[in-house]
This record gives sequence, C-alpha cells and structure tokens, in this order.
Amino acid sequence: MSFYITTPIYYVNAEPHLGHAYTTIGADILARHMRQRGEEVFFLTGTDEHGEPVALAAEREGITPQQLADRNAARFEALMPRLNASIDFFIRTSDPRHERRVQEILTRVRDAGYVYEGTYEGWYCPRCADFKTETEIGPDDSCPIHHIALTREKEANHFFALSSFQEPLERLYDEHPDFVAPRHRFNEARSFIAQGLQDVSLTRPKVKWGVSVPWDREQVFYVWFDALLNYVTALSFAREGESLERFWPANLHLIGKDILKFHAVFWPALLMAAGLEVPRHLFVHGFLLMDGEKMSKSLGNVLDPFEVMERFGTDALRYYCFREVSFGSDGSVSTAGFEARYDSELANEYGNLASRVLAMLRRYRGGVVPVVATDPALDADFAGLPAQVSDLLDRAEITQALELIWQRVRRCNRYVEERAPWRQAKDPGAAAALDETLASLAEGLRALSVLLAAYLPATTAALLDALGRPEIDYRLATFADRGWGGPGVGDLEPLFPRVG
Ligand code: MSP
Repeated sequence: MSFYITTPIYYVNAEPHLGHAYTTIGADILARHMRQRGEEVFFLTGTDEHGEPVALAAEREGITPQQLADRNAARFEALMPRLNASIDFFIRTSDPRHERRVQEILTRVRDAGYVYEGTYEGWYCPRCADFKTETEIGPDDSCPIHHIALTREKEANHFFALSSFQEPLERLYDEHPDFVAPRHRFNEARSFIAQGLQDVSLTRPKVKWGVSVPWDREQVFYVWFDALLNYVTALSFAREGESLERFWPANLHLIGKDILKFHAVFWPALLMAAGLEVPRHLFVHGFLLMDGEKMSKSLGNVLDPFEVMERFGTDALRYYCFREVSFGSDGSVSTAGFEARYDSELANEYGNLASRVLAMLRRYRGGVVPVVATDPALDADFAGLPAQVSDLLDRAEITQALELIWQRVRRCNRYVEERAPWRQAKDPGAAAALDETLASLAEGLRALSVLLAAYLPATTAALLDALGRPEIDYRLATFADRGWGGPGVGDLEPLFPRVG
C-alpha cells in the first residue's frame, strides 16, 4: 500500500525555528513508522515562497523576492538532514514546474465555472496573508494571531466560488467523521462551514510576486491557492513516472491549528472544483509555546532547533517535542524542561538500560545472548504492544504511542531490579535463571528499539547494531522474537552522554 504524508510548506520570510521543526519531525516519525510496516511512503515538505509577506521582507532587506526565497529555502532544506527527516522531496513554489501546474489546475477550475470577477472589500492581515471574516477580527481591528493592525482592502479580483461547495463539504464531514482529527478540530471546521461559506479571493491585483493568472496577466494567484496546490503539483515532477496516480489522494496532511481553515475548508473545495479527490485525513497539531505565547519569529520568542541539536543531539530533540507536549494540544517547551527529560528519561532510563544490559551480557555471558526462552512475565507486559502502537500511529497519536512504549522502557528497568542479575551471577544454582534474565532483557531492549526506531532513528540504530540485530522491520517489534545466536554483542558509546 502507499502512504503519502505532507507537512505544510514553510514561509520563507522567516528562518526555521522549532515550530517548523516540530511538524517536520512529527511527519517523519509517521513516515518512518509506515516504512517499517512495509508501506510505500512518499513524504513531502518544502517552502511557500510567494506572496506579499515575502515581497515585503525582501524589500526591507533591499534584495529581490527570489533572492530572499533562495536564501531562506536553503536554510529550510538544510534543516531536513539535520533533523534526520527522511523526506522524499522538497518542493519550492517558485519552481517553474509547480507554477505551470498551478496555472493548469486553476484554469481548469475556471473552465468548470467556479471563478468569476468581482470586488473584494474587507480586512486583511499581511503576515497571515489572509482576508479575515468578521468573526476572525481581534480588538481594534487587529490580527488576533500577530497582534498587528489589519489593513482595509478594496480591490477588483477573481473570486473562487467557495459557496458552491457548501453542501458537498457538509456531506464530506458527515460521511467522514475521521476527515479531521483531533475531534475538536473537526468540530471547529464543521462549524465554520455551518456558518455559511462566502466566496473568496482567488487572485490579487497589487501583488507582483506570485504565479501569474493566465487569463489576466495583471494579477497573480492568491498565495494560499498556489501553496495548497503544492501537495498535488509535487507529485507530477518529484519522481519519474506518474506519481499522482500512485500517491493521490494524500493519506495525511499534518498541519498546525492556525492553518485549519485553509486545509479543512478551502482545500477540499478547491480539489472538488478541479475534479480531484480530497485527502483522506488531516491531523491538526497545537502550538509549541514559550512563556505562554506561540513561538514565532514575529514575537521573537523562538528556540533555535540547530542550537538545541548541537548540544543534545537530533534524537533528543525529536523525543522531547513529542514527549513534553501531547501532539494535538498546545504546550510549553523550555530549555530547563528539555534538560530534565534528557537526563531523567533518555540518559537514565533508555540509555542506562542499554548500557547495563550490554555490560551484563559481556560480564556474565561473554557478550553472547543466551538462546533460551524469555520470561513469560516480561513477555506478558509486551503482549499486544506493537498493534497498539501502530493503531495509535494510524491516527497520528504520536505522544500516546510513545507513552505506551516508554512504560515498557520503565518496566525493563524494574525487571533489572527485580531479577538482580548480579546476585544470580553469584549463585551457581541460578545459571538458568540468569540466562532467562539476560535473554529477556536483550529481547526487551531489541523490541523497544524497533518500536522507538521511528522516534530515535540514530540512537536505536546504534543500539540495534551493538546487539547484532539491526533489522527494524515492524514485524520484529514483537517480544520473544527469539532470533538470537550468532556473534556476541558489539561496543556501544553512551547513547545520551551527560551534557554540561
Ligand atoms: N506557508 C504556510 C503553510 C502553507 S501549507 C500549504 C504557513 N507557513 S508557516 O511557516 O508559517 O507555518 C508552517 C507550519 O508551522 C504551520 O502548520 C504552523 O502551525 C507551524 N508552526 C509555526 N510555529 C509554530 C509553533 N510555535 N508551534 C507549532 N507549530 C507552529 O503557515
């Protein structure tokens, strides 16, 4: 089966910060997990390069929008290998191949009768690049997200007949209760639709930096339509052959809650207008907060993911984001919180379990994992775990799945204490019991590492290598796989060394 997963494409008017890394890591965890299950995965990310905010930022710096886009897109692209994000393609919306496809698709939408000329008058936030409806306006005509004054716009442009999709969208939501998750975001989108849809601007006359409208060269497409279409256009040039047929509709768009309306309302309507299938699922995550406010460039309260990874490593960042804040909710992150989880969970629980088990195998059994049955008591605590984890990850419940796995990391540590292998080693009558303890712990560590491979790809690979069982096929996530034997365990550097 194929599994197509996307992140939002990131605005190039800012540099990458932890909020962007967050969505990317989430998508990567799911992409890696699906590959472990043998699915044919396509994982797309990229940059959103057009529109007024980018043009304004370039003007402030005295460079062209393309120069600004090139410079900042390169920073986002460089973030991907640093995050160990296993992307299949990085799309840039200033790519002429994307632009051509946008023109083709939107011309089709016009030919189908969903585009007309009109005059827009209303409130606009240049940072959101969004026209605000009456219910979306903050105090004193401000933007509730950016806390800046909205501008009053009046312009002649082309409209997309969103209102024609009132009933088809209501039907989509009624027939597919899992179209948007979590549930409260589904309800939010559903009630936005229920309020009655108004037609929206498809083009902008005053903006120059964008995809030009083939039937009206004075205008460019409104950046959101250009941007949303990336999910479809990329498939026509990312790979040789016809990937659109192979991968469309997308299985999952991961998005932040700030861009719900575009993805949950505009996007399916646009796809219907273009005669394309709608995506199967959207998962909406919350914001990472610093000092109670959304981390964002414009508010200046950002954690630099490059710095964090420099100090603690990529896996630690990947872990922390999804452990500290439940995926789907807002939550605060801080350097202190990061350090605490690094020490108490990664280093002391998982890292320590790994080094203890390897050391005991070496000390008591010459580094060879005894080929004996594992302890039914520990076996029982792992029973059903891979299926539970994959069920949760099918619903993008990344934090809950990690919690289930981590309970077993703790269980294995308790098992070490309960069985006290150092005592068993001193008792000549306990040799069989010690074999069972060590085999069970090696097996526990191996099964845990297969389950954690999507979260912590580098550390789990090092550990599985040291155990001599590097395979991460998801079928090997079951406990009591009993594939031991062969050469002894190898060396392992501390997985999460102390950081000063
Ligand atoms: N360019 C649009 C998306 C177009 S998709 C067709 C955009 N870009 S963005 O760079 O501003 O944001 C991209 C994603 O990063 C959004 O989903 C947003 O929610 C997420 N984050 C940005 N800051 C964030 C936090 N502080 N916390 C979590 N995610 C946040 O919107």
